[in-house]
Amino acid sequence: MQLRPWPMAALFVVSIAAAQTPKMAKLPEVPYVPTANTVVEAMLKLAGVKSSDIVYDLGCGDGRIVVTAAKKFGAHGVGVDINPDRIREARENAKRSEVENLVRFEEGDLFDANIQDATVVALYLLPQVNVRLRPKLLSDLKPGTRIVSHSFDMGDWKPEKVEQVEGATIYLWTIPEKN
Ligand SMILES: C[S@@+](CC[C@H](N)C(=O)[O-])C[C@H]1O[C@@H](n2cnc3c(N)ncnc32)[C@H](O)[C@@H]1O
Repeated sequence: MQLRPWPMAALFVVSIAAAQTPKMAKLPEVPYVPTANTVVEAMLKLAGVKSSDIVYDLGCGDGRIVVTAAKKFGAHGVGVDINPDRIREARENAKRSEVENLVRFEEGDLFDANIQDATVVALYLLPQVNVRLRPKLLSDLKPGTRIVSHSFDMGDWKPEKVEQVEGATIYLWTIPEKN
């Protein structure tokens, strides 16, 4: 049987799309939507980031939160993202901003990430993902670690501060002392 021109074209398009879809062990639970730069700076200020901090962004996208923390505040940073394309962009961003010595980016699932040395954690996920992540944050992070979230809260874990920045809501929590 001979394929007609249109199915051949469709096969070609499908195979190109498949080749361009990055290989991921698990699909992202949150789509990629970057935080505006003004909101990034407000999040870092809300968390009181300073040069002694280690800032993690779980679901880091193009790495802008971690790169800005390094560039503007001299902090160390780690970004984790499940999408290898985002990790490549984040590494390029760090190189362009000349902060490669302060930051690193890991490809992987944020729920599996080792976050124990974080002193600040940034999030821009989804409400139900924040709530699922909450037990890991409370068990893995040291008391005093600050968490900032763009747009979404943590269910019934009340934030210490809430601010509005250019139409975005940002939230702050601190990991309490362990009993
Ligand atoms: C809304 S974007 C936020 C990007 C960045 N944090 C920012 O604020 O500009 C969410 C990011 O989370 C990533 N992501 C979704 N599910 C993930 C998972 N299970 N593990 C790691 N990254 C994930 C997506 O690939 C995407 O880059």
